[in-house]
Amino acid sequence: MQEKYIDETKQGEAVAIAEKPENGKKLFLESYGCQMNFSDSEIVASILSEQGYNTTLNVEEADLILLNTCSIREKAEQTVRMRLAQFKKLKKQRPNITVGVLGCMAERLKTKFLDEEQLVDLVVGPDAYRDLPNLLKETDDGRDAINVILSKEETYADINPVRLGGNGVTAFVTITRGCDNMCTFCVVPFTRGRERSRDPHSIIEECKSLWENGYKEITLLGQNVDSYLWYGGGPKKDFAKASEMQKLTAINFAQLLDMVAVAVPKMRIRFSTSNPHEMTEEVFRMIAKHDNICKYVHLPVQSGSDRILQLMNRQHTRQEYLELIKKGKEIVPDISFSHDMIVGFCTETEDDHQLTLSLMREVEYDYGYMFAYSERPGTPAHKKLEDDIPADVKQRRLSEVIALQGELSRKRMQEYVGRVHEILIEGTSKKNENQWKGRNSQNAVCVFDKLDGQKIGDLVSVFVHGNTQGTLLGETV
Ligand code: SAH
Ligand code: F3S
Repeated sequence: MQEKYIDETKQGEAVAIAEKPENGKKLFLESYGCQMNFSDSEIVASILSEQGYNTTLNVEEADLILLNTCSIREKAEQTVRMRLAQFKKLKKQRPNITVGVLGCMAERLKTKFLDEEQLVDLVVGPDAYRDLPNLLKETDDGRDAINVILSKEETYADINPVRLGGNGVTAFVTITRGCDNMCTFCVVPFTRGRERSRDPHSIIEECKSLWENGYKEITLLGQNVDSYLWYGGGPKKDFAKASEMQKLTAINFAQLLDMVAVAVPKMRIRFSTSNPHEMTEEVFRMIAKHDNICKYVHLPVQSGSDRILQLMNRQHTRQEYLELIKKGKEIVPDISFSHDMIVGFCTETEDDHQLTLSLMREVEYDYGYMFAYSERPGTPAHKKLEDDIPADVKQRRLSEVIALQGELSRKRMQEYVGRVHEILIEGTSKKNENQWKGRNSQNAVCVFDKLDGQKIGDLVSVFVHGNTQGTLLGETV
């Protein structure tokens, strides 16, 4: 992850595994955007596997082409449109194939894809994947099909995801869906609906089953994991209406972490994403309590200026954020942090920008994901504020935060040198086939020479003797 300083949005990745031999139809499934989309694609593959589809990496042999799309920035949507234009050509040659869009763009644009653009046959929003079998019956009969209804309850808790294209060692486990935060720049609350939490028992079962199947690291996933709250189902917003008994027995994120850490005691546990105004001291204490919870928190901040944070509706000040970081460092001495940052948000001045840079220096992040503000239709910022920072100013500010993060990353990596780290082997290094690649607890990538007897999934002690900007260089001890 360290290499990707500019954009975490993956530019489309098709994934496949051999599933049921008896399945005769082929699904080409390509995912864009955040980890949640990649995780959702595994649910979609699981649902369609029951309908006779095996996944394929070869679009030419597909009966069904699905794009799981992202709306977070304009660029992400443009990429998907270009891809759909390619599929339109393919469909001219092979009219029998069905092309569908899933995910956030499906939810945002709804029937627009079917009516105006005629690019696709099928449009399915993030909460409607269970309806895919019915929708495919409609497309089989030659009709366009759409379901973009958002749900207050759907968590796909009972669906066992088909693990696509992974390394067999690390996996995502979804714990919440949707987001109630309403940051003014963000389209997610509109495309993924109200926040709801998944039944902890189904989470624990999934984690145990992953361990039994050889997985060694899980990432608990949600738009806002610290906001996790299980009280028997339903949206978080309705918790106030829950019975006294439900309130007494409710489970929060720190308690869930505790339960998972105990249920799979040798599994490495990570979580993403944390929101500064929901994250609690209790969560840091849980990291300190359990050896198997990694000492790393992704804590997006978006800006270092209180005025901009307020315009973004971020529910916390610079000072509160810095105090949270300080608490984290006190409770978990070896902890590392990463961030998301937006530059060039509406009305951002040079002074605001300098505050962002100074905040980054104060925290000393291991790494971060940095973006130029991209106005999204329908968001509160689009309705109420003017996207008034010129593109060249946004780009210059973006280069400055990226350059500073480069310096900070190098400094942090240097602090890891001269020590022994526990590294989970995730695969062979891309640059050198005689070396392994893995990560330490703090999520820093480490490469080191392979030794006989070592294999993917092993947790090994590695002495780090050097570093580059984003990678640790070591040798097994
Ligand atoms: N809570 C989420 C955040 C989703 S969006 C999570 O699970 O990660 C990821 C990041 O994209 C945000 O933190 C923000 O930094 C960036 N982002 C969101 N909307 C944006 C916009 N309109 N323009 C630029 N960047 C944006
Ligand atoms: Fe978006 Fe803010 Fe939620 S960035 S996903 S509205 S926490």
